[in-house]
Amino acid sequence: MASSAETLLKVGADHVTKGMGRLTEAIMTKGEGSYLTLHDGRRMLDFTCGIGVTNLGHCHPKVSKAAADQCMNLVHGQISIAYHQKYLELVENLIPVMPDPSLDSFFLWNSGSEAVEAAIKMARYITKRQNVIVMHGAYHGRTFGAMALTRSKTVYFDGSEPLMPGVFPMPFPYWHQHNLPPTTSEDELVSRSLYQLELLLQQQTAPTRTAAILVEPVIGEGGYVPAPPSFLKGLREIADKHGILLIFDEVQSGFGRTGKYFATEYSGVRPDMLIMAKGIANGFPLSGVVTRKELTDQLKPGQMGGTYAGNAVACAAAVACAEVMKEENILVNTQKRSTELFAALERVRQNPAVGKHILDIRGLGLMVGVEFASPATSKYDVAAPSPNAPKNMASRVAKRCIEKGMYLLTTSIYEVVRFIPPLNISEEDMKKGCDIFAEAVEEVVKEG
Ligand SMILES: Cc1ncc(COP(=O)(O)O)c(C=O)c1O
Repeated sequence: MASSAETLLKVGADHVTKGMGRLTEAIMTKGEGSYLTLHDGRRMLDFTCGIGVTNLGHCHPKVSKAAADQCMNLVHGQISIAYHQKYLELVENLIPVMPDPSLDSFFLWNSGSEAVEAAIKMARYITKRQNVIVMHGAYHGRTFGAMALTRSKTVYFDGSEPLMPGVFPMPFPYWHQHNLPPTTSEDELVSRSLYQLELLLQQQTAPTRTAAILVEPVIGEGGYVPAPPSFLKGLREIADKHGILLIFDEVQSGFGRTGKYFATEYSGVRPDMLIMAKGIANGFPLSGVVTRKELTDQLKPGQMGGTYAGNAVACAAAVACAEVMKEENILVNTQKRSTELFAALERVRQNPAVGKHILDIRGLGLMVGVEFASPATSKYDVAAPSPNAPKNMASRVAKRCIEKGMYLLTTSIYEVVRFIPPLNISEEDMKKGCDIFAEAVEEVVKEG
């Protein structure tokens, strides 16, 4: 007989590592479209998508069926033994959606962190240089190399040092990172960031030692801030000048999340490598790095690999995802729902009772952040000078949303909540989520 939920929750409390945090002490028993059902019967509207993964909703029937069928055919087609069919079919499906035709050589792995590490490993080998430039606020994962590249919160690496050396951070063009007010123009933020990059290359990591610049086109754990196209263009120019590889981490922003297949398309900038995961297989563990064949032809067989890399079931799911993206016009739905979401958030900002506590609404497609004006943690912070605003608004609003039946996540060290609903969410569920959010904000403000 299966154990009761109470017994299992006690197993969790007593025997699952404390090193993982969770939003709710609950057991998810079912996922269906935009909803998750919990052990106690609660049906939660999921505006997290398992941190930007289930872009096509939980258990999309076509994706789940493709995985189930693959389970009955071939589960583990180890890639060092031979190709398997779904790996090749997936690559065939990915080639036409790449943001640049030069991106034509793929390596598939399991998680985003692994793919990030694969990209850095290749970049170092190909350029014969060691150092990597990353952004303040960047998140690239929690494995050893990836956590060394992560600069969003110290909790991800604190106490586990020494980290992989040769990582040099520069400020992302987000007003907080420059300690400027939210009204600062994009041009000013971009020129300040690019200036800091030039200083970095003169003072800390010589171009001849710098293998790569790694950047998220929409910084995720750093606050849900889209990189201005002029910033990415500036990075491209500087990278070209010095023979540095430009790597875009689209683990969170890829596969339609921002309203385009890849956020890279908003700038038209060509990365030398693109890292993908999450939405690629709608919940099956799969990630990848794509770069130019001319670069990967320099690698030696055996240099890249992994027991489960490009697992056949995950690849079958990913092929189905690629088909669903087309068949169900997912990008069109994303754009429609995005317009509704931004309009609803704007109405919250226009509400005189709460509007002054909203510092910023930003994002692309259905990767949207709202930043509150809660008192700053630093007395030197010029951006959120609102000592009388309710404290810790982001986490309190997210908690209220959960009480009202909707999962919503915070992000970054700032007061930001992030909206990552399924890309095929209905108009009705989008409205429901926006109403819950508006109520939650009002209640938290009233509470003070
Ligand atoms: C931009 C980015 N890169 C890398 C990762 C790491 O991916 P994973 O958790 O699959 O290792 C994440 C995860 O959130 C991410 O958002």
